[in-house]
Amino acid sequence: MNAFNGFSQKKVPFQNPTLSTEQRVKDLLSRMTVQEKAGQLNQLNGGAFTGPALNDAGQAEKSKMVKDGRVGSMLNVTGVADTRAIQQTAMQSRLGIPLIFGYDVIHGYKTIFPVPLAEACSWDLAAIEKNSAVVAKEAAAAGIHWTFAPMCDISNDPRWGRVMEGAGEDPYYGGLVAAARVKGLQGKGNDNEHILACVKHFAAYGAVEAGREYNQVDVSRVMLWNKYLPPYKAAVEAGAATVMNAFNVLDGVPASANKFLVTDVLKNKWAFKGFLVSDWASFKESIAHGYAADEKDAALKAMQAGSMMDMQSNVSEKYIPELVKEGKITMAQLDDAVGRILFQKFKLGLFEDPFKFCNEQRESATLFSAANRAVAKTAAEKSIVLLKNNNNILPLDKNKKIALIGFYANSKDDMFDFWIAQGKSSDAVPVYEGLKNKFSNLSFCNGYNADNTTSEALINEAIQNAGAADVIVVNIGISGKMAGEDRSLGNPVISDGQIALLTALQKTGKPVVALVSSARPLVLTQAEPLVNALVQCWILGTEHGNAIASMLSGEFNPSAKTVMTFPFAVGQIPIYYNHFNTGRPEQTDGMGNWYSRYRDMTREPLYPFGHGLSYTSFTYGELRLSASSIKKEDRLTVTVNVSNTGKMDGEEIVQLYTRDHAASVVRPVKELKAYKKIMLKAGETMELRFTLTKNDLSFFDANGNTVIEPGKFSVFVGGSSEQVKQADFELK
Ligand code: NOJ
Repeated sequence: MNAFNGFSQKKVPFQNPTLSTEQRVKDLLSRMTVQEKAGQLNQLNGGAFTGPALNDAGQAEKSKMVKDGRVGSMLNVTGVADTRAIQQTAMQSRLGIPLIFGYDVIHGYKTIFPVPLAEACSWDLAAIEKNSAVVAKEAAAAGIHWTFAPMCDISNDPRWGRVMEGAGEDPYYGGLVAAARVKGLQGKGNDNEHILACVKHFAAYGAVEAGREYNQVDVSRVMLWNKYLPPYKAAVEAGAATVMNAFNVLDGVPASANKFLVTDVLKNKWAFKGFLVSDWASFKESIAHGYAADEKDAALKAMQAGSMMDMQSNVSEKYIPELVKEGKITMAQLDDAVGRILFQKFKLGLFEDPFKFCNEQRESATLFSAANRAVAKTAAEKSIVLLKNNNNILPLDKNKKIALIGFYANSKDDMFDFWIAQGKSSDAVPVYEGLKNKFSNLSFCNGYNADNTTSEALINEAIQNAGAADVIVVNIGISGKMAGEDRSLGNPVISDGQIALLTALQKTGKPVVALVSSARPLVLTQAEPLVNALVQCWILGTEHGNAIASMLSGEFNPSAKTVMTFPFAVGQIPIYYNHFNTGRPEQTDGMGNWYSRYRDMTREPLYPFGHGLSYTSFTYGELRLSASSIKKEDRLTVTVNVSNTGKMDGEEIVQLYTRDHAASVVRPVKELKAYKKIMLKAGETMELRFTLTKNDLSFFDANGNTVIEPGKFSVFVGGSSEQVKQADFELK
């Protein structure tokens, strides 16, 4: 059978590539039945499940549905052979509309990169864009057209397992990272080396109460506009082709059925031209939320909100024809949704060549290539955050005798999270292997068990190994299996077993370097005083061990800074740097003891947003402002000297924050507005200039309008959100 059944002999307008995409979409819509249109909104799972298996049809039934034009997209089908086979079936449908294959390519397809949260700690947008381009190239070579990334959810809660997929707690920086990821994934479009991006989860999914997965969300409009929406907006402005509805409610309405979010904000205010896909069965989940009465009502409410493709609920394809007949959904509504999906299929070039992404040779040459692994290694190095380095114990001399301790250092099984696409942990380099390549005098023992408990025997063995070494390197943390969707933790701390091990190791008097494996900030408060150096290694992907070895040996001088606050205690969560001052910030103005604090612990985090050390040290000069008062239309230049006062060349991430002291809507004590990542040679001083415009001094009111108000502002520049120099100015 040839590709376009029934139309093959004489070309009809939608098959004519010389026409505009809009014309082609219009023509195709005019030829489709309502059932076929509903089919385009239907996305079926075709591979491993990334959600609950609700009434999943068998392969034969799915294949029939594809052939009948009742499916617009499949997810979780991977590889050239499988995507080609299913596309061939789609080509047998009446109109031969190609399928679009979507997949969660979150931090790599086969070559696995650091988890997105770690990657964001590099503050290196060019590198992030490049990483995404490599990820896209691998996925595209394996038949994938579309990834469900980037995740743009701001979260302040390390109990939530999905913080690993985002870019941390800052809305401004989150937007920059989201845009870089979209650009890297999508490229300039219309080739077969890039894939469509999907901005998710729209919106405010990161605000799930108590960090519990799928839980309710209750955020004010002021917080929504100022804190949660900016990263999604930045990604949409960067040209993201698709957006995914979130699982949560907003204002008591499930995001998939939320007209305010989908139509008012996304489609109207932001003029989003791409298409929306639900999250896994999220249309149907409106019933469990208590918003829709039944499946038909769920389909209706999603459509009325302006939502489009239905991932795995199977309610749209089933009920839309009926709903159209009953006049509850208009043809215009349906055509808008379907037309947007068709538009992206045309833009991808799938109507010209439905097998454009299907080439086995390219697939095998591209996946897990040495070149891709080299990019992944650099990305991994740039993600490592050096939290503490007393007496410059790091880097380690390569001739030092090292006792490497810790089950995770040699467990490939625990290295990866849930979102590794086709990555294999057997291909990954654990810490032990990485260190072996760099340090010749190395011993290894487990120190604790797979479940993080320990025993006298394990501790004794560790002490013995430590006794014969110059320095102890101990890998603590949690398994990669605890990262990602449905991996919320009520108690994200270092286990008692690992603390017992650290306590015993500290008693040996040997210097202790702790490497923390985790895809979220854990509470490190108990571990911190027991070690001389503390390194947040996250989950670094395929090159994990090699990157850590090059950092420990000093071949790579760490430069990353954390984009999520490390809490002092679980009870402080949610904790974040850009909080409000409150009416009683501290013991000033005669407040005495009556101020916002805890009676049983500090209110300060263990490590603040923006913190991260280097093997060298930096000092900051006083800030110089171009004026002490400016008008709205003026620009303010902030000048600062930064010096490398240590003995090594190194990179520093110079961060600029502002504070608006009196506003019609209370503003945070600090807001990141700009940063520069610079390389300074040992002893070098650089003069840096930042320019602030009215954009940087504005905020959103509860209706999403941009507001800029006169008054006192402060500007802060420094190497973390806490270590800053300050200067004030007036906006007239
Ligand atoms: C559910 C997740 O929330 C979403 O992020 C993912 O893209 C889909 N499942 C598809 O796997």
